[in-house]
Amino acid sequence: MARQVILFLIIAACLNASVLGDRDHPVPGRSLDGQTHAIKYLEEQQTQYWVDKAQAKILSKLAEAQSTNTNKAKNVILFLGDGMSVHTVTATRNLLGDSASQVYFEGFPFTGLSKTYCVNRQVADSACTSTAYLGGVKANYGTIGVNANVTRYSCDGAQNEEDQVLSIAQWAQAAGKDAGLVTTARVTHASPAGVYAHIADRNWENDWEVANRFCDPEKTIDIARQLVEQPVGKGLKVILGGGRQMFINATFNDEEGLPGLRNDGRHLINDWLEQKKEANVSANYVWSRKGLSLVDPEKTDYLLGLFASSHLPYNGDRIRKRSQLADPSLSELTEAAIRVLSKNSEGFFLFVEGARIDMAHHDTYARRSLEDTAEFANAVKTARELTSDEDTLIVVTADHAHVMSINGYPDRTQDITGLAQNADDGLPYTTLSYANGPGYYNGFNRVEGRAKLKAKLLDDADYQYPTLVPLDAETHGGDDVAVYASGPYAQYFSGTYEQSNIPALMARAAGIGPYA
Ligand SMILES: *[C@@H]1O[C@H](CO)[C@@H](O)[C@H](O)[C@H]1NC(C)=O
Ligand SMILES: *[C@@H]1O[C@H](CO)[C@@H](O)[C@H](O)[C@H]1NC(C)=O
Ligand SMILES: *[C@@H]1O[C@H](CO)[C@@H](O)[C@H](O)[C@H]1NC(C)=O
Ligand SMILES: [Zn+2]
Repeated sequence: MARQVILFLIIAACLNASVLGDRDHPVPGRSLDGQTHAIKYLEEQQTQYWVDKAQAKILSKLAEAQSTNTNKAKNVILFLGDGMSVHTVTATRNLLGDSASQVYFEGFPFTGLSKTYCVNRQVADSACTSTAYLGGVKANYGTIGVNANVTRYSCDGAQNEEDQVLSIAQWAQAAGKDAGLVTTARVTHASPAGVYAHIADRNWENDWEVANRFCDPEKTIDIARQLVEQPVGKGLKVILGGGRQMFINATFNDEEGLPGLRNDGRHLINDWLEQKKEANVSANYVWSRKGLSLVDPEKTDYLLGLFASSHLPYNGDRIRKRSQLADPSLSELTEAAIRVLSKNSEGFFLFVEGARIDMAHHDTYARRSLEDTAEFANAVKTARELTSDEDTLIVVTADHAHVMSINGYPDRTQDITGLAQNADDGLPYTTLSYANGPGYYNGFNRVEGRAKLKAKLLDDADYQYPTLVPLDAETHGGDDVAVYASGPYAQYFSGTYEQSNIPALMARAAGIGPYA
């Protein structure tokens, strides 16, 4: 009897499948726009097309095997796409034209995966990760340039020298190389701060923030002051990004009329200029794209560029809004940095951050995040073209992932930022969506349920992609991030490893620091 029931169930299941199709993998039907799922590129229909592609790949692998680069890396450039998850890179291919497109650094010969967890959290932030990928030590969430003995917000936690973690920028300086940083965030933000700061809370970018947590700002030195006054920051030849507000008192206005956030009366930009004058070195401070274009890198030893009161604009907005073209692009900043740093015959270490990939994701502005990833890739291309892979190691990675997914079964012809198919409620859903974040509020409401999405809405960069869970800011993701490498010892970067291994591998390639 029982056997008959089972047999019946099996037959029923099979009939069901053949009548309705496989519910997990829908059969070709019609897509949202009523078109059949036509083939986008006719050559992809041919077996030979794929065979030829594979042959070309084998040839390039054979060539690589013969030319494994074991030169000493004179220069090292670390590109950090903040929050640039693997999904973000994949989706950017589509933004560039098609699933088969290549984001520039995907063409690098070696790729690996980095494990991003921090000492006390599975999902990391940009602070503890910066200590890992710049200093080689994992730490507590929210802390920068210190080991995990230092708990977040402990006023004097970062003052014990034993617990301070030095970055590869310091190792480079100690070896006679120059060092610099470029970011589209405030130069005091968590990722760039990993280059030069030691602090128990990432928010302590100015003295007011330190006092706000009941610490004495004359003892717990804020990040902006560390950049200007402490050895590694003082020695940086290039500092380019945003964040003027962290450098000047609340009673002063910057060049664009915006007030500072400091309460200690300091004007750290003037202090920096004064300090360089005293040292009798050529130093330039610029605050606009025009100012940057007038800098002669041959005659500039130290370059400080602060182009915004806070962060630089999203690259997509920079292009869409003429007024923001007054700000330099990440590629332009990268070029200026390399030109200044290249003067040192001993070489340099440069950190370049595409910071706003992350910030766009936090707001579930998927389009902006992909646009910033595309510009980040342009900056990598600029760097690779300005340097030689014989002597310059370029490593591209991210600090942590985000919770954006690529879902549905969109046709090859559909935009990545557009709609996928209709769901069971008869309403369309987007190909990109997030596990959590602010997009919840426009994607769903208690009375009507899911919003009736119109494709046109999705053309707007301000559209916040739908989420499952309501959260004011979307969270980071805990998945591994990719590492792409080109140049001397790029082969070190294949495999799956701890994020904290990255600076050790770079330093080994350059023969600097504790891993030389
Ligand atoms: C950190 O803490 C551990 C014990 O918890 C201690 O053994 C170690 O010496 C401390 N300092 C450093 C720099 O690791
Ligand atoms: C700096 O700003 C604080 C807060 O507004 C103010 O009390 C103080 O007088 C200012 N210091 C100077 C030197 O302007
Ligand atoms: C400063 O540098 C210039 C040129 O590099 C040199 O001629 C001059 O003597 C220096 N002055 C001092 C005070 O060191
Ligand atoms: Zn973030």
